[in-house]
Amino acid sequence: MGNIFDTHAHYDDSAFDEDRTQLLDKLFAAGVCTIVNQGTTVETSRFSLQLAEKYTNMYAAVGIHPECADVNSVAELETIRQLASHPKAVAIGEIGLDYYYDVPKDIQREVFVRQLELANELSMPVTVHDREAHGDILDILKSYRPKGIVHCFSGSAEMAKEIIKLGMYIGMGGVVTFKNARKAVEVIKAIPLENLVLETDCPYLAPVPFRGKRNDSGMILYVAQCISGIKGISTEEVLLTTKSNAEKVYSITQL
Ligand code: NI
Repeated sequence: MGNIFDTHAHYDDSAFDEDRTQLLDKLFAAGVCTIVNQGTTVETSRFSLQLAEKYTNMYAAVGIHPECADVNSVAELETIRQLASHPKAVAIGEIGLDYYYDVPKDIQREVFVRQLELANELSMPVTVHDREAHGDILDILKSYRPKGIVHCFSGSAEMAKEIIKLGMYIGMGGVVTFKNARKAVEVIKAIPLENLVLETDCPYLAPVPFRGKRNDSGMILYVAQCISGIKGISTEEVLLTTKSNAEKVYSITQL
């Protein structure tokens, strides 16, 4: 599994407290090539950078997740700006809108937009979270035109086409393998492999046959196999192309 690039992980999560070091050592030894850990708060952004300092092939996104946004978040963006100057910070993320949660929409939108402005100012890509907020996400992305990834994409094939027209990438993970994944399958059919990147969002969203269990970057193999079936190409081609896409979007060059 030498070409697995996990574009979106949360190894800071307490689900990994027991065996984080052993697991990451094992995954990198088994050939996972690169992992980008996503911050959701100032604290987890710092933790992501600490992991990135420890592992050569680990990088960090720093940012405030909509679910964690509150009235203090805008003031915290000064710290996010400082963290973003770390040599292993490769994106502003995880940012976006989550209308499933009760965080007031105006606060979410302000924190999202401020981080898009920050990313554009620093010429960094973003990792975007969109849950039940497709219309607003698309409108805001169209006006700010950031580079980056819409992760765990849950929109329609039409929306995916709009996103890639903006030069952004679509992130897909375990959901693709679920029985009820009709929408995700339509998206994968509708867009070129050149616009797709793979992710875990671990510890959540483990692919079939591990659905409901703790996810990790090694399980991306099952996502790649599923996509290879949908697109009628080899799993190796899926892994290679999505890895090269991820390196492009995050400006990471591997030896
Ligand atoms: Ni996430």
